[in-house]
Amino acid sequence: MNETYELLRTLTTPIVAITSKLGDKSNGMIANSGMRASLSDVKPRVSVYVHKFNFTHDMIFESGRFVLHVLDASQMHVVTSLGFRSGRDGDKLGDLEFEIGKTGLPVLSGCFCHFECRVVNVMDTGGSTLFLGAVEHAGDTPGRTPLTPEHLRDAMPEEYRKLYLTNLSKAQAEATEMADSMRAVVWRGLE
Ligand SMILES: Cc1cc2nc3c(=O)[nH]c(=O)nc-3n(C[C@H](O)[C@H](O)[C@H](O)COP(=O)(O)O)c2cc1C
Repeated sequence: MNETYELLRTLTTPIVAITSKLGDKSNGMIANSGMRASLSDVKPRVSVYVHKFNFTHDMIFESGRFVLHVLDASQMHVVTSLGFRSGRDGDKLGDLEFEIGKTGLPVLSGCFCHFECRVVNVMDTGGSTLFLGAVEHAGDTPGRTPLTPEHLRDAMPEEYRKLYLTNLSKAQAEATEMADSMRAVVWRGLE
């Protein structure tokens, strides 16, 4: 790992889960960060970077909607259920408790908090797309603590640790290869 990559670790946020729905198919994935993307308390916005090889990427792109969840420190099982295989290969939400949120997407139970979002803009970064989401509904579970990257590293079950590092190096190689293949994307509008 090079020094710059190590320094970038200071910019991480709590671990997040992102759910999506396209037609009858519901899905979820894990990402290492989600960001507040507006100072406005009237028009709250968040942003997430999703790698193009993830099924969730295409589902959000097609549907224009996602739910961003800040995971609770006790939810390592959500990370292992959603972060290690693709929804293309089968249902991943079946093992998890969730409700249907106000926007019709799955909202995972017991998270620190969640934001139901509508995509209002995107940016192609090469390997991933940045989705800017307008928060339409939000909620939280009282008494929870966000799952930090440090906590994740400590709590990662041994059998997943190796797989995580293998997946990470594959994703890094792909991100490097695609880093300069950017196109200007015109999002389809605010509504
Ligand atoms: C701890 C952890 C962090 C991850 N961070 C990201 C991330 O920031 N961006 C991303 O696109 N994928 C990330 N992933 C990988 C996706 O969660 C994974 O590829 C998932 O299987 C995608 O599912 P899908 O194909 O059903 O969308 C992460 C996985 C784990 C376990």
